[in-house]
Amino acid sequence: QISDNWPGYSLDLFTYPQHYYGDLEYVLIPHGIIVDRTERLAKDIMQDIGDNDIVVLCVLKGGYKFCADLVEHIKNLSRNSERFISMKVDFVRLKSYHNDQSMQDMQIMGGDDLSKLTGKFFMFYKDIVGTGRTMKVLLNNIEKYKPKMIKVASLLVKRTSRPDGYRPDYYGFEIPDLFVVGYALDYNEHFRDLNHICVINDHGKAKYRV
Ligand code: IMP
Ligand code: MG
Repeated sequence: QISDNWPGYSLDLFTYPQHYYGDLEYVLIPHGIIVDRTERLAKDIMQDIGDNDIVVLCVLKGGYKFCADLVEHIKNLSRNSERFISMKVDFVRLKSYHNDQSMQDMQIMGGDDLSKLTGKFFMFYKDIVGTGRTMKVLLNNIEKYKPKMIKVASLLVKRTSRPDGYRPDYYGFEIPDLFVVGYALDYNEHFRDLNHICVINDHGKAKYRV
């Protein structure tokens, strides 16, 4: 849980791409800590899923780093234990109509024929839960396929002023109500190539505004 008055780490302590010099305020979570925390989440997940085989649904684009690292940790843990968990991995993306703000119009794109997954143990891996609205729409869509169980792991949960009351089953860090980028999280498609999770500054916001 990262408190509202946590000052973060100075950017000078770490390396990051030169094309983002001047665009960031500070490092909120360094890459190494993200990876270490993800390893622990993998352990917790392994303990909870028992002997079930799982279908991992990576929520693109922001979830790709977290998903890749989490799957890697689960593979490592299961390779070094008596119990081997078989995993299928699939990718989904959300598309909401431009001219309609309503989240009800959000569509799940990509992924195999989800109806084949009836009776399976699903896990969603996602970058961040803000209001929780996106996750609720996703869950509503998946529930029609009658999975055996659905669990959600999100790297970040934001303490937003307008929460929807949704909490993922697993999460890495609860963060203040700040706009963060890096580790695949973007601001208008920029900053996905940044390793650390950082807070963007006004200069960066203006530079990449669309
Ligand atoms: P929701 O408010 O939980 O529905 O989140 C909506 C989506 O906005 C998330 O899936 C993220 O892709 C994106 N998002 C929310 N907060 C941030 C942020 O701080 N940085 C980058 N993307 C964000
Ligand atoms: Mg985004």
